[in-house]
Amino acid sequence: MEMRELRPGDAARCAELEKILFPDENPWSENVFMVEFAHPHTFYLGAFEQDGDAEGQLLGYAGMAMLGPRDDPEFEIHTIGVDPGHQRRGIARLLMDNLMLVADNFDAQVFLEVRTDNEPAIAMYERYGFTNQGIRRNYYQPSGADAYTMSRPSRSER
Ligand SMILES: CC(C)(COP(=O)(O)OP(=O)(O)OC[C@H]1O[C@@H](n2cnc3c(N)ncnc32)[C@H](O)[C@@H]1OP(=O)(O)O)[C@@H](O)C(=O)NCCC(=O)NCCS
Repeated sequence: MEMRELRPGDAARCAELEKILFPDENPWSENVFMVEFAHPHTFYLGAFEQDGDAEGQLLGYAGMAMLGPRDDPEFEIHTIGVDPGHQRRGIARLLMDNLMLVADNFDAQVFLEVRTDNEPAIAMYERYGFTNQGIRRNYYQPSGADAYTMSRPSRSER
């Protein structure tokens, strides 16, 4: 597996995976990914299959945004997804390890929203020290599904 920061040329594949992974939730388009990658305070990472010496297909992606002042920021996970044919192989863990390293380097708290019925993702976030902070009703559209807000304390608060 190869990891690197995502760039505009990866947006179409991200959008393709989103359509498969979030069919009920207004999956992000290629254009939305382009805007996200270009934002100065976001960090998007991809996990790529290796194809000999060449870079293979994008199998997983994750991104988060830095909010607030640079000397005391918070982070918010915007999205994470892994190709259904390659799940449960530790790809999300690789992505999360890197995102959490960035947050810990800033000694920052991390927030996210997750569907209340998304057991795999909730289990993963709990393994990273996220805890449930409350429920946001009808957070996801058009499904109307509820979300939990979860947060992970900064390194110094853990
Ligand atoms: C959640 C998701 C990103 C996990 O990706 P993955 O590459 O399969 O995850 P990993 O193999 O790295 O597993 C990481 C941890 O997640 C949890 N996990 C992942 N899949 C799980 C499942 N089906 N059931 C229970 N726990 C699961 C486990 O705690 C796992 O750690 P372990 O393997 O040591 O037990 C993937 O299921 C996915 O893309 N889901 C659809 C998109 C989504 O819901 N994203 C989150 C939006 S908030």
